Amino acid sequence: MSFMTRTFPDHFLFGAATAAYQIEGAAFEDGRTASIWDAFARVPGAVIDADNGDVACDHYHRYRDDVALMKDLGLQAYRFSTSWSRVRPDGGAPNARGIDFYSRLVDELLEAGILPWLTLYHWDMPQALEEKGGWTARDTVDRFVEYAITMHEALGDRVTHWTTFNEPWCSSFLSYTAGAHAPGRQSVRDGLLASHHLLLSHGRAVQQLRDRGAQELGITLNLTNAEPVDPSDPADLDAARRIDGQFNRWFLEPVFHATYPGDIVEDIRAVDAAAVDEFQAAVRDGDLATISTPLEFLGVNYYHGEYVSGRPSSTPVPGGDAPTDRHIEPAFPSHEGIHWHERGYERTNMGWEIDPAGLTRLLQRVSDEYASAAGVPLYVTENGAAGDDAIADGRIDDAQRVAFVRDHVEAGGAALDEGVDVRGYFYWSLMDNYEWAWGYAKRFGIVHVDYETQQRTVKASGRAYARIIADRAV
Ligand code: NOJ
Repeated sequence: MSFMTRTFPDHFLFGAATAAYQIEGAAFEDGRTASIWDAFARVPGAVIDADNGDVACDHYHRYRDDVALMKDLGLQAYRFSTSWSRVRPDGGAPNARGIDFYSRLVDELLEAGILPWLTLYHWDMPQALEEKGGWTARDTVDRFVEYAITMHEALGDRVTHWTTFNEPWCSSFLSYTAGAHAPGRQSVRDGLLASHHLLLSHGRAVQQLRDRGAQELGITLNLTNAEPVDPSDPADLDAARRIDGQFNRWFLEPVFHATYPGDIVEDIRAVDAAAVDEFQAAVRDGDLATISTPLEFLGVNYYHGEYVSGRPSSTPVPGGDAPTDRHIEPAFPSHEGIHWHERGYERTNMGWEIDPAGLTRLLQRVSDEYASAAGVPLYVTENGAAGDDAIADGRIDDAQRVAFVRDHVEAGGAALDEGVDVRGYFYWSLMDNYEWAWGYAKRFGIVHVDYETQQRTVKASGRAYARIIADRAV
């Protein structure tokens, strides 16, 4: 932690993020039909306490109050996602009532002086499309592009910043190979095909929206630092290479360099050659050129790093000998023999290491190897901590999160000092919400939500972040 004051340039945006299924509720209102998460949440054992997003934070009905809260906090930008199942129920015809909700939300934000930062896909595909193959089917690409165009026709006069996908690694490998997220499939083939069709949808949507006048287009990736325990040990270096390959390079390479990383393709071939053959056949001529269509920004979601070795650790690591997010291990068919080690950092309530300096390293690396040469600025589109936040006398003193926000904003500033073109920071999340397979058990918000009463209470971290934004300094 530094005691120096660091100020941020005028163009640097401070915001907070949410996603449709995690906050909206109103799951079957005004024509919305089921998404893969409505279905998955009802699979016994899939989600802790069988929680679902039927009500969530009831944001669909409370969005005006929520925007007023954002204004009180001084947020300059609000990153949210639209629900495909609300806008084009079952992936079919447009639904005026669903679209109107987002139109009213955007108007409310603009009225409050907050920049709407819209994500088209944050994991909630219409269940009807999943039943036709979901992301493993190439037809889904056309359906997604139709949906993207519908959103742009409705909001393109007011929304300037468009993100196609949030964390495609999660929508492919975590969802179709690990089975830990909706739709819960467990197949190497399906994860590979899903990753390609997600990326192709991204490229096609960018082209279509740009043709229609959109000027700020990007994608958000969940990126990590894969660091070897002993950088002089070839087995540790190989463990780090494999983690980096599947989390980072699998998505960065096609988006920036029009190729999939050959080393990872071969690693996966060693486990499931038939799946790789099918994947390679699915990558048709021209697809990679489409996927690498130039962008105006790259969103980086950063939570923690991976400290890995080819040798087992003698010190127990929270979550066992597995990635810090324990759900992801089965997603790595080619990751036999990778061991996670402890480096003694404080951890959040998710068991994730707190490593703000890692954010600086990550931004620097992504800039050096990908974004800078393409002239693409970076935004930290997510960064946050889950805490065991209890209300006492109407207050939530979430000291760990107060320090977390300050130190990560500072780490973004350190990247600026290194010459990285980073232009904003969005805290995840504006408010406590539905944390996917963890249900409501994990709280990431700077605003506390009482799920019984839907009362919102700004936490100490919310007040601290508001101070940072007002001062434009940490
Ligand atoms: C990544 C996801 O985009 C978001 O939906 C999730 O809640 C946070 N990280 C925290 O896990």
